[in-house]
Amino acid sequence: MNTNINLLSPYKLGHLELPNRIVMAPLTRQRAGEGNVPHQLNATYYVQRASAGLIIAEATQVSPQGQGYPYTPGIHSQEQVEGWKLVTDAVHQYGGRIFLQLWHVGRISHPDFQPNGELPLAPSAIAPKGQLLTYEGMKPYVTPRALETSEIPEIIEQYRKGAENALAAGFDGVEVHGANGYLLDQFLRDGTNQRTDNYGGSVENRARLLLEITEAVVGVWGAKRVGVRLSPSGTFNDIQDSNPLVTFGYAAQALNQFDLAYLHIFEAIEADIRYGATVVPTSHIRERYKGTLIVNGGYTREKGDAVLAKGEADLVAFGTLFISNPDLPRRFALNAPLNEADTTTFYGGGEKGYTDYPTVEEQHPSLVGAK
Ligand SMILES: Cc1cc2nc3c(=O)[nH]c(=O)nc-3n(C[C@H](O)[C@H](O)[C@H](O)COP(=O)(O)O)c2cc1C
Repeated sequence: MNTNINLLSPYKLGHLELPNRIVMAPLTRQRAGEGNVPHQLNATYYVQRASAGLIIAEATQVSPQGQGYPYTPGIHSQEQVEGWKLVTDAVHQYGGRIFLQLWHVGRISHPDFQPNGELPLAPSAIAPKGQLLTYEGMKPYVTPRALETSEIPEIIEQYRKGAENALAAGFDGVEVHGANGYLLDQFLRDGTNQRTDNYGGSVENRARLLLEITEAVVGVWGAKRVGVRLSPSGTFNDIQDSNPLVTFGYAAQALNQFDLAYLHIFEAIEADIRYGATVVPTSHIRERYKGTLIVNGGYTREKGDAVLAKGEADLVAFGTLFISNPDLPRRFALNAPLNEADTTTFYGGGEKGYTDYPTVEEQHPSLVGAK
Protein backbone atom coordinates (compact mmCIF):
# COMPACT_ATOMS: atom_id res chain seq x y z
CA MET A 1 0.00 0.00 0.00
CA ASN A 2 1.42 3.37 -1.00
CA THR A 3 -1.01 6.11 -0.05
CA ASN A 4 1.25 8.74 -1.67
CA ILE A 5 0.16 7.51 -5.09
CA ASN A 6 -3.28 8.52 -6.28
CA LEU A 7 -5.05 9.64 -9.46
CA LEU A 8 -3.48 13.08 -9.23
CA SER A 9 0.11 11.78 -9.04
CA PRO A 10 2.28 12.29 -12.13
CA TYR A 11 3.51 9.33 -14.17
CA LYS A 12 6.25 8.87 -16.77
CA LEU A 13 4.75 6.93 -19.67
CA GLY A 14 7.48 6.13 -22.15
CA HIS A 15 8.63 9.53 -23.45
CA LEU A 16 5.66 11.36 -21.98
CA GLU A 17 5.38 13.08 -18.62
CA LEU A 18 1.76 12.68 -17.57
CA PRO A 19 0.64 15.32 -15.04
CA ASN A 20 -1.85 12.83 -13.54
CA ARG A 21 -2.86 9.18 -13.82
CA ILE A 22 -6.31 9.90 -15.18
CA VAL A 23 -6.66 8.55 -18.72
CA MET A 24 -9.55 9.38 -21.02
CA ALA A 25 -10.79 6.01 -22.33
CA PRO A 26 -11.42 5.67 -26.07
CA LEU A 27 -15.02 6.72 -26.78
CA THR A 28 -16.80 6.29 -30.09
CA ARG A 29 -19.08 9.31 -30.53
CA GLN A 30 -19.99 8.94 -34.23
CA ARG A 31 -19.55 12.59 -35.05
CA ALA A 32 -16.96 12.57 -37.83
CA GLY A 33 -17.74 14.57 -40.95
CA GLU A 34 -18.25 13.55 -44.57
CA GLY A 35 -15.77 10.88 -45.70
CA ASN A 36 -15.25 9.84 -42.04
CA VAL A 37 -13.03 12.90 -41.64
CA PRO A 38 -12.57 14.54 -38.20
CA HIS A 39 -13.43 18.24 -38.12
CA GLN A 40 -13.44 21.32 -35.90
CA LEU A 41 -16.21 20.08 -33.58
CA ASN A 42 -14.12 16.99 -32.76
CA ALA A 43 -11.10 19.21 -32.04
CA THR A 44 -13.18 21.31 -29.63
CA TYR A 45 -14.37 18.16 -27.82
CA TYR A 46 -10.86 16.80 -27.33
CA VAL A 47 -9.40 20.19 -26.33
CA GLN A 48 -12.01 20.44 -23.57
CA ARG A 49 -10.56 17.17 -22.23
CA ALA A 50 -6.86 18.05 -22.68
CA SER A 51 -6.18 18.03 -18.92
CA ALA A 52 -6.39 14.21 -18.90
CA GLY A 53 -3.01 12.62 -18.18
CA LEU A 54 -3.51 10.93 -21.54
CA ILE A 55 -6.36 11.03 -24.05
CA ILE A 56 -6.93 7.85 -26.02
CA ALA A 57 -8.93 9.09 -28.98
CA GLU A 58 -11.89 7.06 -30.18
CA ALA A 59 -11.71 3.85 -32.18
CA THR A 60 -10.70 4.79 -35.73
CA GLN A 61 -10.90 2.41 -38.67
CA VAL A 62 -7.65 1.61 -40.47
CA SER A 63 -9.45 0.76 -43.72
CA PRO A 64 -12.92 1.11 -45.28
CA GLN A 65 -13.50 -2.59 -44.47
CA GLY A 66 -12.78 -1.83 -40.82
CA GLN A 67 -15.92 0.31 -40.38
CA GLY A 68 -19.12 -0.93 -38.73
CA TYR A 69 -20.96 2.15 -37.49
CA PRO A 70 -22.14 5.41 -39.09
CA TYR A 71 -19.90 8.49 -38.88
CA THR A 72 -16.87 6.92 -37.18
CA PRO A 73 -13.54 8.50 -38.15
CA GLY A 74 -10.93 6.77 -40.29
CA ILE A 75 -7.14 7.00 -40.60
CA HIS A 76 -6.70 5.63 -44.13
CA SER A 77 -7.11 8.75 -46.33
CA GLN A 78 -5.13 11.98 -46.63
CA GLU A 79 -8.25 14.00 -45.75
CA GLN A 80 -8.59 12.02 -42.52
CA VAL A 81 -4.93 12.68 -41.66
CA GLU A 82 -5.55 16.41 -42.21
CA GLY A 83 -8.71 16.25 -40.10
CA TRP A 84 -6.91 14.54 -37.23
CA LYS A 85 -4.16 17.21 -37.42
CA LEU A 86 -6.77 19.78 -36.39
CA VAL A 87 -7.40 17.65 -33.30
CA THR A 88 -3.80 16.88 -32.32
CA ASP A 89 -2.59 20.46 -32.92
CA ALA A 90 -5.37 21.83 -30.75
CA VAL A 91 -4.80 19.29 -27.94
CA HIS A 92 -1.05 19.99 -27.96
CA GLN A 93 -1.65 23.72 -27.91
CA TYR A 94 -3.62 23.20 -24.71
CA GLY A 95 -0.83 21.11 -23.19
CA GLY A 96 -2.43 17.68 -23.67
CA ARG A 97 -1.21 14.29 -24.89
CA ILE A 98 -3.22 12.13 -27.29
CA PHE A 99 -2.99 8.56 -28.66
CA LEU A 100 -5.19 7.19 -31.43
CA GLN A 101 -6.99 3.85 -31.12
CA LEU A 102 -6.51 1.78 -34.29
CA TRP A 103 -9.61 -0.26 -35.17
CA HIS A 104 -10.97 -2.91 -37.47
CA VAL A 105 -14.46 -4.14 -36.59
CA GLY A 106 -14.22 -7.46 -38.45
CA ARG A 107 -17.64 -9.14 -38.39
CA ILE A 108 -19.31 -6.26 -36.45
CA SER A 109 -20.22 -4.63 -39.75
CA HIS A 110 -22.66 -4.93 -42.62
CA PRO A 111 -22.43 -4.89 -46.44
CA ASP A 112 -23.87 -1.33 -46.23
CA PHE A 113 -20.52 -0.16 -44.79
CA GLN A 114 -18.33 -2.33 -47.01
CA PRO A 115 -16.78 -1.33 -50.34
CA ASN A 116 -19.00 -2.65 -53.20
CA GLY A 117 -21.49 -4.01 -50.65
CA GLU A 118 -19.27 -7.00 -49.93
CA LEU A 119 -19.52 -9.19 -46.85
CA PRO A 120 -17.67 -8.09 -43.70
CA LEU A 121 -14.41 -9.93 -42.99
CA ALA A 122 -13.77 -12.15 -39.97
CA PRO A 123 -11.60 -15.04 -38.78
CA SER A 124 -14.47 -17.48 -39.44
CA ALA A 125 -17.88 -17.34 -41.12
CA ILE A 126 -19.87 -17.00 -37.88
CA ALA A 127 -22.52 -14.30 -37.59
CA PRO A 128 -22.90 -12.28 -34.41
CA LYS A 129 -26.35 -12.50 -32.82
CA GLY A 130 -28.50 -9.41 -33.02
CA GLN A 131 -28.74 -6.27 -35.10
CA LEU A 132 -26.66 -3.23 -35.89
CA LEU A 133 -27.35 0.39 -36.75
CA THR A 134 -26.72 1.24 -40.39
CA TYR A 135 -27.32 4.55 -42.19
CA GLU A 136 -30.80 3.13 -42.96
CA GLY A 137 -31.67 2.06 -39.41
CA MET A 138 -31.34 -1.30 -37.64
CA LYS A 139 -30.55 -4.41 -39.69
CA PRO A 140 -29.63 -7.98 -38.68
CA TYR A 141 -25.97 -8.95 -38.74
CA VAL A 142 -24.93 -11.05 -41.74
CA THR A 143 -22.62 -14.05 -41.81
CA PRO A 144 -19.15 -12.61 -42.52
CA ARG A 145 -16.60 -14.02 -44.96
CA ALA A 146 -13.64 -15.84 -43.41
CA LEU A 147 -10.34 -14.22 -44.37
CA GLU A 148 -8.08 -16.37 -46.55
CA THR A 149 -4.65 -16.94 -45.01
CA SER A 150 -3.21 -15.09 -48.03
CA GLU A 151 -5.28 -11.99 -47.12
CA ILE A 152 -3.85 -11.64 -43.60
CA PRO A 153 -0.71 -9.72 -44.64
CA GLU A 154 -3.03 -7.10 -46.15
CA ILE A 155 -4.82 -6.66 -42.80
CA ILE A 156 -1.45 -6.22 -41.06
CA GLU A 157 -0.47 -3.71 -43.73
CA GLN A 158 -3.66 -1.72 -43.09
CA TYR A 159 -2.72 -1.39 -39.41
CA ARG A 160 0.87 -0.48 -40.32
CA LYS A 161 -0.35 2.18 -42.73
CA GLY A 162 -2.87 3.43 -40.15
CA ALA A 163 -0.02 3.75 -37.65
CA GLU A 164 2.05 5.67 -40.21
CA ASN A 165 -0.89 7.97 -40.92
CA ALA A 166 -1.40 8.53 -37.19
CA LEU A 167 2.25 9.56 -36.95
CA ALA A 168 1.76 12.00 -39.83
CA ALA A 169 -1.38 13.32 -38.11
CA GLY A 170 0.65 14.38 -35.06
CA PHE A 171 -0.50 11.89 -32.42
CA ASP A 172 1.78 11.04 -29.47
CA GLY A 173 1.24 7.32 -29.94
CA VAL A 174 -1.31 4.67 -30.87
CA GLU A 175 -3.35 2.01 -29.12
CA VAL A 176 -4.07 -1.27 -30.91
CA HIS A 177 -7.74 -2.08 -30.29
CA GLY A 178 -7.73 -5.72 -29.25
CA ALA A 179 -10.90 -5.43 -27.16
CA ASN A 180 -14.71 -5.46 -27.27
CA GLY A 181 -15.40 -8.19 -29.80
CA TYR A 182 -13.81 -6.51 -32.82
CA LEU A 183 -11.45 -8.14 -35.31
CA LEU A 184 -8.47 -8.87 -33.05
CA ASP A 185 -10.69 -10.08 -30.21
CA GLN A 186 -12.52 -12.27 -32.76
CA PHE A 187 -9.18 -13.86 -33.63
CA LEU A 188 -8.19 -14.29 -29.97
CA ARG A 189 -11.30 -16.19 -28.92
CA ASP A 190 -12.37 -19.65 -29.95
CA GLY A 191 -16.08 -18.73 -30.09
CA THR A 192 -15.35 -16.67 -33.22
CA ASN A 193 -12.11 -18.25 -34.44
CA GLN A 194 -12.46 -21.76 -35.81
CA ARG A 195 -9.62 -21.50 -38.31
CA THR A 196 -7.37 -24.42 -39.11
CA ASP A 197 -4.38 -22.38 -40.37
CA ASN A 198 -1.61 -20.72 -38.30
CA TYR A 199 -4.10 -18.12 -37.05
CA GLY A 200 -6.54 -20.54 -35.37
CA GLY A 201 -6.64 -23.51 -33.02
CA SER A 202 -4.07 -23.16 -30.24
CA VAL A 203 -3.96 -20.01 -28.13
CA GLU A 204 -0.55 -19.21 -29.65
CA ASN A 205 -2.14 -19.28 -33.10
CA ARG A 206 -5.19 -17.24 -32.07
CA ALA A 207 -2.94 -14.54 -30.57
CA ARG A 208 -0.70 -14.46 -33.66
CA LEU A 209 -2.56 -11.69 -35.51
CA LEU A 210 -2.60 -9.42 -32.45
CA LEU A 211 1.14 -9.93 -32.02
CA GLU A 212 1.98 -9.49 -35.71
CA ILE A 213 -0.06 -6.30 -35.87
CA THR A 214 1.55 -5.00 -32.68
CA GLU A 215 4.96 -5.74 -34.19
CA ALA A 216 4.07 -3.86 -37.40
CA VAL A 217 2.79 -0.85 -35.47
CA VAL A 218 5.85 -0.89 -33.18
CA GLY A 219 7.95 -0.87 -36.36
CA VAL A 220 6.42 2.51 -37.21
CA TRP A 221 6.30 4.13 -33.78
CA GLY A 222 8.80 2.40 -31.51
CA ALA A 223 7.40 0.26 -28.70
CA LYS A 224 7.24 3.02 -26.09
CA ARG A 225 4.61 4.88 -28.08
CA VAL A 226 2.33 1.89 -28.61
CA GLY A 227 -0.32 0.50 -26.26
CA VAL A 228 -2.67 -2.47 -26.60
CA ARG A 229 -6.22 -2.71 -25.27
CA LEU A 230 -7.80 -6.03 -24.27
CA SER A 231 -11.12 -6.93 -22.61
CA PRO A 232 -10.53 -10.41 -21.14
CA SER A 233 -13.90 -10.54 -19.37
CA GLY A 234 -15.86 -8.82 -22.13
CA THR A 235 -19.04 -10.21 -23.68
CA PHE A 236 -19.93 -7.20 -25.85
CA ASN A 237 -20.58 -7.95 -29.52
CA ASP A 238 -21.52 -11.56 -28.78
CA ILE A 239 -17.93 -12.56 -28.09
CA GLN A 240 -16.98 -15.65 -26.11
CA ASP A 241 -14.09 -17.92 -25.34
CA SER A 242 -13.97 -21.35 -23.71
CA ASN A 243 -11.04 -20.38 -21.47
CA PRO A 244 -10.37 -16.64 -21.21
CA LEU A 245 -7.96 -17.10 -18.29
CA VAL A 246 -5.62 -19.07 -20.54
CA THR A 247 -6.24 -17.01 -23.68
CA PHE A 248 -5.65 -13.64 -22.06
CA GLY A 249 -2.97 -14.88 -19.67
CA TYR A 250 -1.02 -15.97 -22.74
CA ALA A 251 -1.70 -12.74 -24.66
CA ALA A 252 -0.57 -10.58 -21.72
CA GLN A 253 2.60 -12.60 -21.28
CA ALA A 254 3.39 -12.61 -25.01
CA LEU A 255 3.04 -8.82 -25.18
CA ASN A 256 6.03 -8.51 -22.79
CA GLN A 257 8.32 -9.15 -25.77
CA PHE A 258 7.71 -5.61 -27.07
CA ASP A 259 8.24 -3.42 -23.94
CA LEU A 260 5.18 -1.37 -24.90
CA ALA A 261 3.99 1.96 -23.50
CA TYR A 262 1.17 0.08 -21.76
CA LEU A 263 -1.40 -2.66 -21.67
CA HIS A 264 -4.93 -1.35 -21.18
CA ILE A 265 -7.48 -3.68 -19.58
CA PHE A 266 -11.21 -3.08 -19.84
CA GLU A 267 -12.34 -5.08 -16.81
CA ALA A 268 -15.64 -6.89 -16.24
CA ILE A 269 -18.58 -4.55 -15.90
CA GLU A 270 -22.08 -5.34 -14.60
CA ALA A 271 -23.40 -6.16 -18.06
CA ASP A 272 -20.69 -8.82 -18.53
CA ILE A 273 -21.49 -10.39 -15.18
CA ARG A 274 -25.22 -10.43 -15.99
CA TYR A 275 -24.30 -12.10 -19.28
CA GLY A 276 -22.46 -14.84 -17.40
CA ALA A 277 -18.91 -13.80 -18.29
CA THR A 278 -15.96 -15.75 -16.96
CA VAL A 279 -14.30 -12.94 -15.06
CA VAL A 280 -10.55 -12.68 -15.58
CA PRO A 281 -9.24 -10.87 -12.50
CA THR A 282 -6.80 -8.10 -13.29
CA SER A 283 -4.34 -9.71 -10.85
CA HIS A 284 -4.11 -12.60 -13.37
CA ILE A 285 -2.92 -10.10 -15.99
CA ARG A 286 -0.74 -8.07 -13.59
CA GLU A 287 1.15 -11.24 -12.59
CA ARG A 288 1.99 -11.95 -16.23
CA TYR A 289 2.42 -8.52 -17.80
CA LYS A 290 5.58 -6.69 -16.73
CA GLY A 291 4.93 -3.15 -17.97
CA THR A 292 2.56 -0.27 -17.33
CA LEU A 293 -1.02 -1.37 -16.77
CA ILE A 294 -4.09 0.83 -17.33
CA VAL A 295 -7.36 -0.39 -15.84
CA ASN A 296 -10.85 0.73 -16.78
CA GLY A 297 -14.50 -0.07 -16.22
CA GLY A 298 -16.80 1.53 -13.66
CA TYR A 299 -14.09 3.40 -11.77
CA THR A 300 -14.89 6.23 -9.39
CA ARG A 301 -12.40 8.59 -7.79
CA GLU A 302 -12.28 6.38 -4.67
CA LYS A 303 -11.89 3.10 -6.57
CA GLY A 304 -9.24 4.66 -8.80
CA ASP A 305 -7.18 5.99 -5.90
CA ALA A 306 -7.41 2.62 -4.15
CA VAL A 307 -6.27 0.55 -7.14
CA LEU A 308 -3.25 2.82 -7.59
CA ALA A 309 -2.34 2.88 -3.90
CA LYS A 310 -2.47 -0.92 -3.79
CA GLY A 311 -0.20 -1.10 -6.83
CA GLU A 312 -2.73 -3.18 -8.79
CA ALA A 313 -2.47 -0.78 -11.74
CA ASP A 314 -0.43 2.26 -12.81
CA LEU A 315 -3.10 4.36 -14.51
CA VAL A 316 -6.90 4.42 -14.53
CA ALA A 317 -9.05 5.19 -17.57
CA PHE A 318 -12.47 6.82 -17.31
CA GLY A 319 -15.04 6.65 -20.09
CA THR A 320 -18.51 7.86 -19.20
CA LEU A 321 -17.24 10.33 -16.58
CA PHE A 322 -15.10 12.04 -19.25
CA ILE A 323 -18.11 12.39 -21.54
CA SER A 324 -19.98 14.49 -18.98
CA ASN A 325 -17.03 16.07 -17.11
CA PRO A 326 -14.55 17.53 -19.59
CA ASP A 327 -12.37 18.80 -16.73
CA LEU A 328 -12.44 15.56 -14.74
CA PRO A 329 -8.94 15.91 -13.15
CA ARG A 330 -9.82 19.38 -11.86
CA ARG A 331 -13.12 18.12 -10.47
CA PHE A 332 -11.29 15.32 -8.68
CA ALA A 333 -8.74 17.79 -7.32
CA LEU A 334 -11.50 20.08 -6.03
CA ASN A 335 -13.76 17.27 -4.85
CA ALA A 336 -16.37 18.97 -7.03
CA PRO A 337 -19.69 17.34 -7.95
CA LEU A 338 -19.73 15.29 -11.15
CA ASN A 339 -22.27 15.59 -13.97
CA GLU A 340 -24.27 12.54 -15.06
CA ALA A 341 -23.85 11.62 -18.70
CA ASP A 342 -26.85 11.81 -21.03
CA THR A 343 -26.85 8.40 -22.71
CA THR A 344 -29.23 9.55 -25.46
CA THR A 345 -26.49 11.75 -26.95
CA PHE A 346 -23.61 9.23 -26.75
CA TYR A 347 -23.69 8.29 -30.43
CA GLY A 348 -24.15 10.67 -33.32
CA GLY A 349 -25.50 14.22 -33.52
CA GLY A 350 -23.73 17.51 -32.97
CA GLU A 351 -22.72 19.70 -30.06
CA LYS A 352 -25.51 18.58 -27.74
CA GLY A 353 -24.15 16.06 -25.25
CA TYR A 354 -20.72 16.42 -26.86
CA THR A 355 -19.16 19.84 -26.37
CA ASP A 356 -21.79 21.46 -24.14
CA TYR A 357 -20.99 19.88 -20.75
CA PRO A 358 -19.92 22.72 -18.42
CA THR A 359 -16.60 23.17 -16.66
CA VAL A 360 -16.53 23.37 -12.90
CA GLU A 361 -15.81 27.13 -13.16
CA GLU A 362 -18.99 27.64 -15.18
CA GLN A 363 -21.06 25.39 -12.98
CA HIS A 364 -19.75 26.01 -9.46
CA PRO A 365 -17.78 29.29 -9.46
CA SER A 366 -17.79 29.46 -5.67
CA LEU A 367 -16.07 26.08 -5.39
CA VAL A 368 -13.22 27.24 -7.57
CA GLY A 369 -12.93 30.61 -5.86
CA ALA A 370 -12.72 28.99 -2.45
CA LYS A 371 -9.71 26.94 -3.43
C1 LIG B 1 -20.22 6.04 -25.74
C2 LIG B 1 -19.16 5.00 -25.59
C3 LIG B 1 -18.27 4.77 -26.62
C4 LIG B 1 -17.22 3.84 -26.49
N1 LIG B 1 -16.32 3.68 -27.50
C5 LIG B 1 -15.24 2.89 -27.32
C6 LIG B 1 -14.21 2.84 -28.30
O1 LIG B 1 -14.23 3.55 -29.31
N2 LIG B 1 -13.17 1.99 -28.07
C7 LIG B 1 -13.09 1.22 -26.94
O2 LIG B 1 -12.12 0.47 -26.78
N3 LIG B 1 -14.04 1.29 -25.99
C8 LIG B 1 -15.09 2.11 -26.14
N4 LIG B 1 -16.02 2.23 -25.15
C9 LIG B 1 -15.75 1.63 -23.83
C10 LIG B 1 -15.06 2.67 -22.94
O3 LIG B 1 -13.75 2.95 -23.41
C11 LIG B 1 -14.95 2.16 -21.49
O4 LIG B 1 -14.25 0.94 -21.53
C12 LIG B 1 -16.30 1.97 -20.82
O5 LIG B 1 -17.10 3.14 -20.97
C13 LIG B 1 -16.16 1.63 -19.35
O6 LIG B 1 -15.50 2.68 -18.64
P1 LIG B 1 -16.35 3.68 -17.68
O7 LIG B 1 -17.07 2.81 -16.70
O8 LIG B 1 -15.35 4.59 -17.08
O9 LIG B 1 -17.33 4.40 -18.58
C14 LIG B 1 -17.10 3.11 -25.29
C15 LIG B 1 -18.02 3.33 -24.25
C16 LIG B 1 -19.02 4.27 -24.38
C17 LIG B 1 -19.96 4.51 -23.23
